Amino acid sequence: MQRGAFITFEGGEGAGKSTQARRLAQRFRARGRDVVLTREPGGSPFAERLRAALLSDAGGTLTPSQLAVLFAAARADHVATVLAPALAAGGVVICDRFADSMEAYQGTAGAPAELLRALDRVAVDRCTPDLTLILDCPPAVALQRILTRDALDPFERAGTDVQEARRAAFLAIARREPGRCVVLDARLAADALADEVWRTVEARLSAPPVAT
Ligand code: TYD
Repeated sequence: MQRGAFITFEGGEGAGKSTQARRLAQRFRARGRDVVLTREPGGSPFAERLRAALLSDAGGTLTPSQLAVLFAAARADHVATVLAPALAAGGVVICDRFADSMEAYQGTAGAPAELLRALDRVAVDRCTPDLTLILDCPPAVALQRILTRDALDPFERAGTDVQEARRAAFLAIARREPGRCVVLDARLAADALADEVWRTVEARLSAPPVAT
């Protein structure tokens, strides 16, 4: 069976992931490809229920390990009901955040690496991204962007030192898995970054994304 392409966007708060994921989906669709544009936490009916709880103020009272278990439960359902079937059908799947966010957020907050690896085995299973675009942005720039949002969730309210630790964790993942990850400069204007994203996708995915 033909397998589609699985592309994830990762990075800290205010890096522009959602905008770039949408723009990439438009480019694929303009070339006639079937695209599933989705996000985490969420992306399936059950995972969206967990998302509401995870991003609530009440969710902010949980320990990093408790959060990891719930993010992984949401991911397991999303993978089983949405991602794996779409990929098996040969579609392009673009996901705004995925498993690397758990390592960068819950990992830097103190959840043991061994727990996160075990949860990945259950939740990600073999559904590893073909390409992960890490949108890298200095926290000072990113914080300016997110301050314009109406209401911040507990993760967005973290201070600069926490955001810096998450950023370092994403960059460490990119160094550890250079075959899967590419770091892009999220300080670029949205149009220029969208062009960079497309160039990277064309260069990295072995099956040409423009083929229809
Ligand atoms: P969202 O509003 O989607 O944030 P953003 O627009 O910054 O992507 O909220 C998702 C939040 O959940 C974000 O702060 C990162 C966090 N998160 C984790 O802590 N662990 C995870 O495994 C995932 C997928 C997200």
